[in-house]
Amino acid sequence: MKALLIVVHSRTGGTRQMAEAAQRGAGAEAEVSVRLLTATATQAEDLLAADGYIFATPENLAALAGEMKEFFDRTYYPALDRINGHPYAMLICAGSDGENAARQIKRIATGWRLRAIADPLIVCTRAQTPEAILAPKLIGAADLNRCAELGAAMAAGLASGIF
Ligand SMILES: Cc1cc2nc3c(=O)[nH]c(=O)nc-3n(C[C@H](O)[C@H](O)[C@H](O)COP(=O)(O)O)c2cc1C
Repeated sequence: MKALLIVVHSRTGGTRQMAEAAQRGAGAEAEVSVRLLTATATQAEDLLAADGYIFATPENLAALAGEMKEFFDRTYYPALDRINGHPYAMLICAGSDGENAARQIKRIATGWRLRAIADPLIVCTRAQTPEAILAPKLIGAADLNRCAELGAAMAAGLASGIF
């Protein structure tokens, strides 16, 4: 049985909804176990125990969110050279951009020798004012479907051995 690990950080709920949609999509594949862990809770051992990853983070201050960065900082060397070739994808929740967070994760994943199985899936919440940025987020059904499809594609690839 293959294992998919979804690592998520979310402050106002948007990224969590995206990650949970991916979890639902992947959950339809009976041959794959799916775990969703917060970035804070995820240890290097969790990475080593998984066959594929979905990293889900907001973009903050033109960078991946600090908690997600801390997860990568903490696990990068313990996992280095032990997860080579594993497939990964990323979900980014952003107010208006998201590209820099995606670029940073891509560099980290390149260092780990992971294989991207999809382009970064970026959802923009259009939150621009301080009030809107700090408000709870509600991700629309179409975007959640895209996240679910990504989760399903990852799980199908793991189950079939394509990845
Ligand atoms: C401190 C802070 C900085 C942010 N900086 C950016 C940014 O650089 N680019 C962007 O597109 N969105 C930025 N945002 C908006 C968040 O990405 C957006 O609110 C997103 O929905 C947060 O995801 P979450 O709901 O999972 O916490 C920022 C939000 C906060 C709180």
